[in-house]
Order: sequence, then structure tokens, then C-alpha cells
Amino acid sequence: MEIDPEAINTRRMYEWMIHTILPRPIAWVSTVSPEGFTNLAPFSFFQGVCAKPPTLMFCPVNNRDGTPKDTLRNIQATGEFVVNLVRHADVASMNETSENLPPGDSEFEHFGVSAVPSVVVRPPRVATSPVSFECRLDRVIHVGEGPAGGNIVLGRILRIHVADSVVGPDGHPDPALLDLVGRLGGEDYVRTRDRFGLARP
Ligand SMILES: Cc1cc2nc3c(=O)[nH]c(=O)nc-3n(C[C@H](O)[C@H](O)[C@H](O)COP(=O)(O)O)c2cc1C
Repeated sequence: MEIDPEAINTRRMYEWMIHTILPRPIAWVSTVSPEGFTNLAPFSFFQGVCAKPPTLMFCPVNNRDGTPKDTLRNIQATGEFVVNLVRHADVASMNETSENLPPGDSEFEHFGVSAVPSVVVRPPRVATSPVSFECRLDRVIHVGEGPAGGNIVLGRILRIHVADSVVGPDGHPDPALLDLVGRLGGEDYVRTRDRFGLARP
């Protein structure tokens, strides 16, 4: 079959994308508003960009009324955020934090997610995340506008926190110990426990 994006509506297009571009890692992004309220939300349009300068990206789309999500507003106002990776043990609270709470209502407090202070940025880290990236905003690239329009947030990685308990004998994080989740289409997820090796030619 063949799909012409011009022939289907935005919702259907989104569905085709999330059912085909997978598995997607999940950035559990913590921010702080200019008033000092913390915010936490998951984003699966997320990837690394390059190591020099150390950079990652994720994409908060606009709300249905065309306004930016709290995460993007906070990042644009303060220039800082933390990307926390999601363990299988944390999927329930990660999912809860995708709820759209009013800006002054912290997902950390509302859903009982433990926070620990970051080292170089103001937003806290998620205490149970095995890996967290403290980031400073590099730039936001707006793609489209209004409802469902996209925004690419590029972040300079200032610090990486890795739990000692997930580091394997070779000095790298072991995917089985990390036990991270990835998002598939709809409400399905995968875990990093299923893997195989493939030597490069
Ligand atoms: C697993 C998962 C992945 C998500 N990925 C995205 C995404 O890539 N982009 C996006 O805009 N929203 C995504 N969402 C929805 C946001 O988490 C949700 O809109 C949230 O309320 C945004 O919070 P905020 O307004 O505090 O920034 C995702 C939700 C879940 C559960």
C-alpha cells in the first residue's frame, strides 16, 4: 500500500508515523517554570544528534489549540532541561506524567516522582532514572505552526549521570541492566532486554 500524506488528515498521518517509526526511545523531560514550578513529561520523538558538540533533540508538538506545551514554554523561558531515561519499573509513573496538568501543578509532586537536584541546571533529575542528561537549550527549530505543529528542541549536553548499578564489566551501560522502555504504535512498548549482536563489516 502507499500513503499520500496530502490525502489523509493530520491525525491519520500521526498514526502512520507512530506505527512505523519504532521503537522510539523516551525522553522524560524535567523543566522549571520562571515562577519555580517543576514540570515533567515524556516525549518519544527523541534522539541523539552528535557528540561534538554533545547534542540531543526531542520534539514537543503544539497543543490542539496551537499553544506550546509547558515543557517547551519552560525551556524557552529558562534555557534549561533534563532528559531522564525511563526504566521498565517506572513506566506507570512515566505514563501518568503525560497528563496535561495546569502549569503550577508539578507532575513530580502530583504523581509522587522522586526528584534529586541536578549539578549544573535548575530542573531536577528523576531519582530512579538510570541515565539523565543535564542540558542547556541550543536552539528551537519550529516546523509548521498552530495545532499539531512541531518544534525541534536541540540541547547541549552539559552532564550525564549514569547509575553505577547499570554499568557492565566492559565499562558501558548494559541494556539488560538499564531495562529501558521504547514506545511502539498505540499503547505498546518494548524493553531493551531483547537484543542480538551484529558485527560491523
Ligand atoms: C510515551 C509517550 C510519548 C510521548 N511523546 C510525545 C512526543 O514525542 N511529542 C509530544 O508533543 N508529546 C508526546 N507525548 C505527550 C506528552 O507527554 C503530553 O502532551 C504532556 O502532557 C506534555 O506535558 P507538558 O504540557 O507539561 O509539556 C507522549 C506521551 C507518552 C505517554
